Amino acid sequence: MPVRTWFPTQIYCEPLQPTGLEKLNASLREECRQLREFDTAGRRWSEKNYPGGYTSYASMNELHRFSSTFTVLEKKLLRHARAFAKTLELDLRGRKIFMTDCWVNIMPPAAAHSLHLHPLAFISGTYYVATPEGCPGLKFEDPRLDRFMAAPPRRTDAKPMHRAHITYPAVAGNVILFESWLRHEVVANRVDAERISISFNFNWS
Ligand SMILES: [Fe+2]
Repeated sequence: MPVRTWFPTQIYCEPLQPTGLEKLNASLREECRQLREFDTAGRRWSEKNYPGGYTSYASMNELHRFSSTFTVLEKKLLRHARAFAKTLELDLRGRKIFMTDCWVNIMPPAAAHSLHLHPLAFISGTYYVATPEGCPGLKFEDPRLDRFMAAPPRRTDAKPMHRAHITYPAVAGNVILFESWLRHEVVANRVDAERISISFNFNWS
């Protein structure tokens, strides 16, 4: 083939661990809901900025420093982030990868999270705690979308790698990692149950 592929956009998706996910998710589920009860400032912020849902993004966003359950999760996620950085062939210059932010997202029916990226980080991701059947996945956008200018659209039967969007299903127990500049969104939750996830950022120093 005369054509080769360059400049890939890589997305990592793996179960957090081989076993024990149900037990861990049961305690995380409870803790996430308790946090929503307790976090008045977060609920107020969410009313304006996360309609219909709850996020601790602006109020309690260093959960890995305050909760032992989240500290355990941080350690497990760090292993995945290191593996992803290795795949990306990043030269960390002897510095370490560390979690900077970690927050909870609860999306009841109708809640959505519009397109965004994660500033001040290099690897970001989400861990799924509760994913009722039919709840929305994580939709990524081709980072070159604004440069296509006059290019014709892709054929509807184009290979997934040629499409402008890719959606990873939300699966409880899975970790999804991506480079922080990659725009993504969660469309409205259309099922009658709460979708719970934990999002986080990593930096290096
Ligand atoms: Fe995000």
